Amino acid sequence: MRKPVIAGNWKMYKLLDEAVETALSLKHSVANANHCEVIIAPVFTALKTVCDRLEGSNVKVAAQNCSTEQRHGAQTGEIAADMIKDVGASHVIVGHSERRQLYGETNEAVNLKAIACVNFGLTAIVCVGENLAQRESGRAETVVETQLSRSLEGLTVSDMERIIIAYEPVWAIGTGQTATPEQAQAMHQFIRSAVENLQGNEVAADTRILYGGSVKPDNISGLMAQADIDGALVGGASLDAASFAEIVNYK
Ligand code: PGA
Repeated sequence: MRKPVIAGNWKMYKLLDEAVETALSLKHSVANANHCEVIIAPVFTALKTVCDRLEGSNVKVAAQNCSTEQRHGAQTGEIAADMIKDVGASHVIVGHSERRQLYGETNEAVNLKAIACVNFGLTAIVCVGENLAQRESGRAETVVETQLSRSLEGLTVSDMERIIIAYEPVWAIGTGQTATPEQAQAMHQFIRSAVENLQGNEVAADTRILYGGSVKPDNISGLMAQADIDGALVGGASLDAASFAEIVNYK
């Protein structure tokens, strides 16, 4: 059985006090949520404090990015995966479409980041997803398959225990235009079969595939009802503890 994951991506929002306040409020409102894993991803400057304040709770903490480099060195502005682990986080979002689009992150970089996470005992939430032009020209599956196979290159079957996939169609992120549950399910099923081709059917059956893109309290249950949707990566609606808690408590 795949345990669902509801993850909140806070992007570049919240000063330290706001991050702590939201985290503590969320900790309280999801204290009884055992049906899924709950994760929040604050900005780096809030990471350690939020980890400390959530210790012993059922809310886990993710970073939003990490370095491709595993060795400490002359890499101004970068943060290595073991530094993230060191402050108490357990997950890292890698290859988010904003990083791919705005910071030129390639599949090869995403792959190195995923490997760094796995090597240091972190779980990587690997994001894939097509943009509108790619969907409209019928290339969505090819694009996603390429992102997936390149981003997961070299990972072993046991490494895959530390990989979560997030399907986030770029046209649905921050636009209020969610994929319909049927559209999302079709791509999730495709992704699961692509994982099967890469890693075999046991890994495919165990891999959690999250949907992301305008997930809100009023559309989460329709998405979660789909066979291959194992959770959500939530942006805007995760910034408010009450709305994120509603999403967490979708059932
Ligand atoms: P959104 O963002 O929920 O605001 O669309 C999702 C994401 O970028 O992960």
